[in-house]
Formats: sequence, C-alpha cells, structure tokens
Amino acid sequence: MKNQFTRRNFIRTAAASSVALGWLGARQAPRGFAAEADKPALLGGTPVHRSGWTQWPQWREAWEANILKVYRSRSWFRGAGGEVANFEQQYAKLLGARKCLATSSGTTALLVSLQVMDVNAGDEVIVSPYTFIATYNAILAHHALPVFADTDPATLTLDPASIESRITERTRAIMPVHIYGMPCEMDAILAIGRKHKLAVIEDACQAWLAEYHGQKCGTLGDVGCFSFQQSKHIPSGEGGAITSMSETLIDRCNSYHNCGRAVGTNQGSGSFTRGLNYRMTQPQAMMLQQQLDKLVKETEIRQANADYLSANLGKIPGIIPVRLPRNSRAVWHLYPFRYDATQFNGLSLARFSQAVSAEGVPCGPVYREQYYDGLLDEAIASRGFQRLWSADRLRAYRESFKELKGNKQVCETTVAMTQNMLLGDRASVDDILEAIRKVQKHSAALAKAG
Ligand SMILES: Cc1ncc(COP(=O)(O)O)c(C=O)c1O
Repeated sequence: MKNQFTRRNFIRTAAASSVALGWLGARQAPRGFAAEADKPALLGGTPVHRSGWTQWPQWREAWEANILKVYRSRSWFRGAGGEVANFEQQYAKLLGARKCLATSSGTTALLVSLQVMDVNAGDEVIVSPYTFIATYNAILAHHALPVFADTDPATLTLDPASIESRITERTRAIMPVHIYGMPCEMDAILAIGRKHKLAVIEDACQAWLAEYHGQKCGTLGDVGCFSFQQSKHIPSGEGGAITSMSETLIDRCNSYHNCGRAVGTNQGSGSFTRGLNYRMTQPQAMMLQQQLDKLVKETEIRQANADYLSANLGKIPGIIPVRLPRNSRAVWHLYPFRYDATQFNGLSLARFSQAVSAEGVPCGPVYREQYYDGLLDEAIASRGFQRLWSADRLRAYRESFKELKGNKQVCETTVAMTQNMLLGDRASVDDILEAIRKVQKHSAALAKAG
C-alpha cells in the first residue's frame, strides 16, 4: 500500500490534536441520542473522543530565562561555552552511560558511530528493515550495504534468529533499532556480535530511557544513538547524542564530529584526523537540559497508560499487542499493535484506521516495505556501489528483500498511535479502547460502506 502516512506527517498531524479530527474526516456531530452515539463516526455518528490530545512539542515559560541567557551570552558554539558539555554529563548520568557526546541530529550520531566503529566503503551492516529511513541512509552514506535481517512480527524488532545467515566476510556491524522505543532482544544480538567480532551500534533514536534487563537502551552495544528532533520525547528541533560505556569510543566520536580535532584519549598524530562538523549548539543543549525531568515523569505516564492499554487491547479479538522482551520497559514513541482483519469482517487496515481515527483516536499504518521505495535501487545502480560489489552480489542483495516475510507481515498489519495520546488521563485511554470496540461492532457495515 502506497500510503501517505509517513511517520512524521502522522505524528505532526496527530499531535496537533484539533487538526486531527478534520484531517481524518470525522463529522463533528453534537452528542445526541444513544443511537447517534452508537453509529460509527465515519458513517455520521458521534465520535467517541472529542476533547483532543496533548499537543506536541510543548513549551514552558519557565524555560525562557535560561534559554535567553544562552543567546545573550553570545556563546552559541559549543567551544565557547559549557552548556553542551553540561547536557552530555546529565544525559550520560540519566542513562547510566560512561560518556555521552551530543551531535547535531540522530542521523549524524549514526554517521559518526559508523565511522568510529570502522564501517568503510564496501562493508556490510546488518540492520533492521522496520525503521525510519535515516537508518538505511546513514549506512549508504558510508558506501556500505544495509543488509536487512527480518522483523519478528511478535516484537516488531530485529529477529535475532535471522541475523547469522546474512553475515558475510564483509559484515562489520549489526545495527538493531529499538523501534517506537521498544527494546530489541539484545542478549541474543550481542552474543552474535561477540561470536563474529562485529560492532553493535544501537539505533536508540526513539528509545530515550527504554530498558532491557535493567540497563538503558543505548548503553548495551558498543555505542547507542539518539535523536532529539522535533517529534521526539525530548525535542530541540534538531539534535542527537551518542552514548557508550567506553570513554575511548566517545573521544573518537568527539574528534570525528569536531572536524577531526584531537580529543581526550584520541590524540591521533597530534594534528587533525579525518572528521566533519556535526556539533550541537549551546541553545539546543539548554533546551534539552531543561526537559530531562519532564522526560522522566512523562515516560512513567506513557508506560502506565500503555500497560493498561495493552492489557485491555489484548481482550479485543483481532487486536494483537506487541510482545516485549522479558524484563524490559518500552517508552512508546508510537504505540503499535497488529490488526487481524478477519476478526473485523474483512475491514481493511486502511479503512479500520480511518474509522478509529474518525472516532477521535488518530491511528494508522506507519512504515511500509521501504526497500522497494527506490533508494536502494539508486544506490545499487550508482558507480560507487558497482565498483565496490560484484554484479552477482548486488543482484542477490536485491533479490533477498523477498525473504523478509516477517517484515512484510508487520508492514501490512501494524497500526500505531502517537506518544502524546498516552499522556492523557485514564478516561482518554478508555476512549481509545471504546473507539476500537465500536469499530469492531460495526465492522460489517463499515466494510460494506467502504
Ligand atoms: C529510528 C530512527 N533512526 C534515526 C533517526 C534520525 O534522527 P534525526 O531525525 O534526528 O536525524 C530517527 C529520527 O526520526 C529515527 O526515528
């Protein structure tokens, strides 16, 4: 399905709660007779949820004085003031990481990490296909091949059992993605990394404070990468970070992100090593410092509401909540579930999403099978990639997308809601459940009308 629901468009629209109902075509009928309330909103009835959702991103007047102070100091560049370093210390402490390096975005955090973990032109990186496109692009930018392992439909994350068969002599790293803030099965992934001497780079861009076996995501592999882009739980417009338990690795990341200047344990030859400018600015760091307490509190609210939602969604036939690894905590950047149309009189996933959205509960499919979107064909056809791999390898690589059966199933059956919808009170979470039950009750009529 070529849907228009890119994750960011979806988040932007759903977060502007007042817009969401209009966008999704709900008719704003006044609350009326019971019969009217029972009729699906998509067919002219009254929406279940009419009070909107928490807007995102948020602004607090209390932040303004400190942010203005940074601007007035005229120390906007990290080399001229300490706010970026302050944020790095605080974020590392919050995660239990040895060290943190702030970057200009999640994408640049991934680029720096790939460089420092020695991913070179002609190498291969095993990666989750079910992710934001930046994960693929960061690998391609290194002239390396993103080799997709399959997605486990039960967890929506990288299926560890599908990794080893994809390792070749060119594989340098594994890049699991804690998608929607749901931890991957890291013990199994780390064991494969150790066995084959592969670096493990966690794409934790959606997983601030997510936990696996008592440790925060982003501190489990060699390095972990985070995003603070506008839609994220801790946003600064753009921004990112790399965390690690290794001081040496973060010093190398620091050098590379700062034009190759010698830093700490990474003195190089005493002058410049290779590097670019991926630095965070001081005002961004001040924005982020002020949101750390808020992040912790809101994470707890999202988790409590998601627990309640999962327990009750699981009782609705045809709605399958995601299974998390044992002893782990997700942080729900999106809240996903899988949808079985056979339990809804064959109502298509698109129509189901439309009907639930019309009830004032915006939801929809998110990632499609992006490896068919053209960017990999473009890479394969490029002069550089054709120099680096044989025609046979590139042909087999393209063919291998067909093996991603779990991922295909996930793309075709997953529906998600945005994180701001988990910040409301219990009554609003009950509305989510009620909207889905209502759509199920009327699924035959909705399927017929569609
Ligand atoms: C899984 C994942 N990886 C990487 C990125 C890239 O982060 P940024 O947008 O900050 O460059 C994102 C951002 O949405 C993401 O969700």
